[in-house]
Amino acid sequence: MGKTINPLPYNTDKPSFDVYFRNYERLFGSLAGKKIHLLELGISQGGSLELWRDYFQHGTIAGIDISPVHLDDPTGRIHVYQGLQQDTALLDRVRRETAPEGFDIIIDDCSHIGEFTAVSFWHLFDRHLKPGGLYVIEDWGTGYMRGTPDGKAYVPPGPVTSFRSRLRPFVEKVVARPSVVRRPSLKRVVHAVMNRLVRMRFRSHMYGLVGFVKQLVDEAGMDDITHPAWGTPPARASKFSYIQVSHGQVFIAKAGESSGRAVTAARSAPRKPVRVPGPARRPMHAKFRRKKRA
Ligand SMILES: C[S@@+](CC[C@H](N)C(=O)[O-])C[C@H]1O[C@@H](n2cnc3c(N)ncnc32)[C@H](O)[C@@H]1O
Repeated sequence: MGKTINPLPYNTDKPSFDVYFRNYERLFGSLAGKKIHLLELGISQGGSLELWRDYFQHGTIAGIDISPVHLDDPTGRIHVYQGLQQDTALLDRVRRETAPEGFDIIIDDCSHIGEFTAVSFWHLFDRHLKPGGLYVIEDWGTGYMRGTPDGKAYVPPGPVTSFRSRLRPFVEKVVARPSVVRRPSLKRVVHAVMNRLVRMRFRSHMYGLVGFVKQLVDEAGMDDITHPAWGTPPARASKFSYIQVSHGQVFIAKAGESSGRAVTAARSAPRKPVRVPGPARRPMHAKFRRKKRA
């Protein structure tokens, strides 16, 4: 745990979320004394920029807001721009003028609209965040709020009432019977039947920022999505080294040079097929493997 953050002296709306600062302390602590470059989208009165300036004592701090923001910054380390978060030409300019080598940290506390957040995320993440850098999306729970332009109240998925789901408890009872457990061939058949009856899809809320965050999970799964044996090539590693989702904050760490190499090495190593009990099932990846041309 590094330096603590006390947001109270600053004119920022973040103090209402103490948990945010505990996460920031944990993830930013090792950078506090370094010459980092930070960009915040959505800065309101600019208080959060002053907070970051004082936390990162050698940092360069940039901020963008649709409204004009005037700050009195004697250090000259804060740079404020007026414009839209989805204006990619502006994002390029801010990087050019304040962080020629790229940003170490980018925080999006801006429109909280999924579409705009997605535009700035992919533009900044791909082009202007350093390898190993951290991108934070704040207040992603707005996607559950009726009052936000693209939010919607959460509706819990209803009970599963399909024929499959009603049949499964009976099969599950059979699976555990000693007469089945003792006989490998029968056991394989019963397991195969049970596996055929499992639910394949889990319905889920996907509005606004919540929907966008769930798309980010797909990027985290890119190694499997594009795997030559069971995915859709061309193979590529995920751009993320990890994604951490917690109340109100998503942290996305950009894969560094070294983690990229590790992923490539892991992919070239032979991987064991996933074995599913049951006589009718071949190993999962074999089922989807493309036939080699003669
Ligand atoms: C939640 S406030 C930011 C609070 C600030 N980060 C803090 O900690 O005090 C959101 C800000 O985003 C700005 N904003 C909303 N939509 C925007 C957009 N599309 N582009 C740029 N700024 C936007 C608003 O003007 C507002 O100041």
